[in-house]
Amino acid sequence: MAINDKIEQIMSTLNEFKATKEQDIEELRVKMLGKKGEVTQLFDEFRNVLPEQKKEFGQRLNALKNAVQERIDSLRESLADSAAGSASSFDLTKPGDKMDLGARHPISITREEIISIFKKFGYSVAEGPEIEDDWHVFGALNFPPEHPARDMQDTFFVCPGGDNPVLLRTHTSSVQVRTMEKMPLPIRVICPGRVFRNEAISARAHCIFHQVEGLYIDKNVSFADLKQAILLFAQEMFGPETKIRLRPSYFPFTEPSAEVDVSCNICHGKGCNICKGTGWLEILGCGMVDPNVLEANGIDSKEYTGFAFGMGIERIAMLKWQVKDLRHYFENDVRFLKEFETVI
Ligand code: DAH
Repeated sequence: MAINDKIEQIMSTLNEFKATKEQDIEELRVKMLGKKGEVTQLFDEFRNVLPEQKKEFGQRLNALKNAVQERIDSLRESLADSAAGSASSFDLTKPGDKMDLGARHPISITREEIISIFKKFGYSVAEGPEIEDDWHVFGALNFPPEHPARDMQDTFFVCPGGDNPVLLRTHTSSVQVRTMEKMPLPIRVICPGRVFRNEAISARAHCIFHQVEGLYIDKNVSFADLKQAILLFAQEMFGPETKIRLRPSYFPFTEPSAEVDVSCNICHGKGCNICKGTGWLEILGCGMVDPNVLEANGIDSKEYTGFAFGMGIERIAMLKWQVKDLRHYFENDVRFLKEFETVI
């Protein structure tokens, strides 16, 4: 076959060639450009071409070799494109992937539950700033100047020094003060929020946690009212069988003050490792608002009395779900959070 015809034939083979897989293309490459390939053989025959035709044939052969190489490259490209295309195209007949639903955080669940219980009793919700000043966190709440809570060891200061240092609130009792400042009497509020203390992190303590504060001020509010409010709350939260007991305690802002325990909802008073064998679990601090606090906030303590209480949301949540390590609440491990998926 004349060299020209051979070139034509190779070109038409190239144009008609279809590849469905990489191997087809590799076979074409070997067939054309391999050691015994058709194009390679043409280069061998080049020797026999008459000298005056060498230039023209040389150019034609080089053009042929380039055309073969380009065709191989473009076949490879289109094969890669179609592979990528089919990978990203949707198979509409495939069953859908299960979507993982998020769950509410146990602290949010508990906070909402506490709020909804007190709302039923007629309390409204008040909030205040997390960055506070000494007056709202300590001064107006009857903390003496030398009280250890005012120390760097216990409180995170934002701007220490001066008459009224700026700090991160260590309790939500500061919202009591802000409420007394601006709300007309009578007052019946709960104040949920985040608080900060300079504590080493352990299974039982964290430097950030959450509290709900309660405050009720009116004429003739008595300690009996306080007890009844706490009892009703405890029974709503931990079940109708729940009992409470009050132990005398001390807080600068209440007088008298008490700590409240609920009967252990695990062993029902028999004693277990959750209640450390006592049958009781401590849930909050409370007391009658100290007249000094009322007066510091412009309320006539001869006419008005009130009670206050404060509880840790983490503590209530730990008791409710028997979580033994406080740190679980802050690590956001999905395996832990998933356990609350079914809690509405
Ligand atoms: N503020 C207290 C604390 O953080 C909790 C508390 C105790 C609040 C007694 C009160 C109360 O309102 O009466 O430990």
